[in-house]
Amino acid sequence: MQQISTIAELRQVLSEIRRKGQKIGLVPTMGNLHQGHLSLVDIAKQRADVIVATIFVNPMQFIEGEDFESYPRTLDNDLSMLDEKKVDIVFTPSVEEMYLEGAETEVTVLSLDNIHCGHFRPGHFKGVATVVNKLFNIVQADVAVFGKKDYQQLLVIKRLVRDLCIQISILSGETIREENGLAMSSRNRYLSDSERIQAAKLYESLRHIADEIRKGNTDFTGLQKSSIGVLKKNGLRPDYVEICDADSLGSPTSNNLVIIAAAWLGKARLIDNVAVHTYD
Ligand code: PAF
Repeated sequence: MQQISTIAELRQVLSEIRRKGQKIGLVPTMGNLHQGHLSLVDIAKQRADVIVATIFVNPMQFIEGEDFESYPRTLDNDLSMLDEKKVDIVFTPSVEEMYLEGAETEVTVLSLDNIHCGHFRPGHFKGVATVVNKLFNIVQADVAVFGKKDYQQLLVIKRLVRDLCIQISILSGETIREENGLAMSSRNRYLSDSERIQAAKLYESLRHIADEIRKGNTDFTGLQKSSIGVLKKNGLRPDYVEICDADSLGSPTSNNLVIIAAAWLGKARLIDNVAVHTYD
């Protein structure tokens, strides 16, 4: 596996790969890798010949007071995991390499920017869209893979690609979970052993809502409210639990729904979602 830290070198190496007619698969990450990330590499491998993973803790997507400084950075371990997974190239740029002095161009997907997580983390999705757009421009991959756990992020990226006519296929990977149902996340590191057990309540609560909807319960406001109550009773501090249209994250008007939620537990902000189709 080749580790590259400058845009110029990466472009040179990739242009050679492209010249040979090989397809490039991109897996963007912020490092502190876990099985969830590795499952995205597996998906990329099914559709590309050469896999580029990126490790970049993107300052622009952290809002003031968040954990940018303390975000877990575990480069050596990440590199050995990617090497073992037979990733071909890992791109590990510095902040200065990704954000040139005086850079002032930002990308915002308007309809998704300040709802749900965007409401609680203003500017977060602008940071994600801007850095992902940069990575797409740098790597010019054929496919890129993102996890469904970050559901709103996935929609932001799909919309960005559509609206800016970027030539890339966006693939998504299922959420990988711990045995108790807790969605894997780098920020789970912030949880104590007992909090990890409590944290599983989030997924349990979303699954309960999904079951109720499948049984025909259409009192969405009531379901959201009671789920928030259950989470609070279990020591979590929910930001929101919302039943939404799965394509727009707007009001639940279609048969294709997603229940999305974010809740704090100790120092960790957990997010999760469950899809529900109500065709029958
Ligand atoms: O999901 C993440 O790890 C990040 O938001 C991403 C997509 C790598 C952009 O920094």
